[in-house]
Amino acid sequence: MEKRMILENLKAYYRQLKGTTEYFVKAVDGVSLEIYEGDILGLVGESGCGKSTLAKTMMMDLTPPLQYMGGRLEIISRDGKSFEISQFKNRDEVKRKLWGKHIAYVPQDALNALMPTIKIKKIAYDVLRSHDKNISFQKAVEIAKERLIELDLPDYVVELYPFQLSGGMRQRAVLAMATLLNPEILIVDEPTSALDVTTQKIVLKSLIKLRKLGFVDSIVFITHDISTVRQIANRIAVMYAGKIVEVGPTESIIREPLHPYTQGLINSVASIEPEGREKGLSYIPGQPPNLMDPPSGCRFHPRCPYAMEICRKEEPKLLKVGESQVACWLYQEGGENV
Ligand SMILES: Nc1ncnc2c1ncn2[C@@H]1O[C@H](COP(=O)(O)OP(=O)(O)OP(=O)(O)O)[C@@H](O)[C@H]1O
Ligand code: SF4
Ligand SMILES: [Mg+2]
Repeated sequence: MEKRMILENLKAYYRQLKGTTEYFVKAVDGVSLEIYEGDILGLVGESGCGKSTLAKTMMMDLTPPLQYMGGRLEIISRDGKSFEISQFKNRDEVKRKLWGKHIAYVPQDALNALMPTIKIKKIAYDVLRSHDKNISFQKAVEIAKERLIELDLPDYVVELYPFQLSGGMRQRAVLAMATLLNPEILIVDEPTSALDVTTQKIVLKSLIKLRKLGFVDSIVFITHDISTVRQIANRIAVMYAGKIVEVGPTESIIREPLHPYTQGLINSVASIEPEGREKGLSYIPGQPPNLMDPPSGCRFHPRCPYAMEICRKEEPKLLKVGESQVACWLYQEGGENV
């Protein structure tokens, strides 16, 4: 399977000043991950673990206070071109060369962020014009209508303002417009969280269709709800306190989670009623750490029922175990259980 994106030890921190002292919120802190052609990768983890920050970093959408702190980020296009974060001088250049064409992002608050005074057809025109300055408005509207029909939406949607669409329709229209230029990678951040269960399913279907029709090659689906992501993802990456702690095929992660944090996430889904799940309740004791001063060693150790001496001192590496990769001393030389 061809790689579409490679992240190696990627770091992005929020810089904060308290008086004259500088602090960093280590929201993305050494993330390594590969995304393959055809992947629907679910990125899961509790609120505040860094999912949205990782999405912004993957888009190279770094604006203060968020700063790129190091590591490698590469996007590989269908025709084999490689784009590296280090190649770009600034955000404008990234925007011009990559956004929409090679990588698209539907942010967490997309539904609310849409300008109420801009019709869907103007959104389409702006996306298409970013690639082809000379495209006519008429042509852009035609392309947008075609795309809406292909995604089972009525073409008159182009004539509407976002607020005239129901939540589900709006989300699907946003997905259709964001991918008009057929980017290799689409990142969607909590696309279904604000929707009821029936509408969620329709949005998930639209995402699958985007990939099936080849409008996008790979999707990164971000959610704090592991039960949604298992319906759509072929792989799941679990994030905790700025790091990926486990990544593997969906079925292995759900049936045989290796990392104690993943086990906690799965158990909390199994043990809580849907209402509780919607509120993001979890049965993992304790709270995620403050990322300004995260725990030493394994960042999960203050909450982990299996924590050993080494866990407090040394950080476990993300290593291959079976079909997955996991960062936990229980599975590594140096831990007591190996
Ligand atoms: N602008 C900011 N300045 C400082 N810290 C920030 C900023 N935005 C986010 N953070 C911090 O970065 C960490 C990661 O936040 P992020 O929004 O990426 O988490 P998330 O996993 O997407 O959470 P959620 O599930 O609630 O969307 C959190 O500790 C958060 O408080
Ligand atoms: S490394 Fe240690 S503290 Fe961290 S999850 Fe594994 S057993 Fe728990
Ligand atoms: Mg988020």
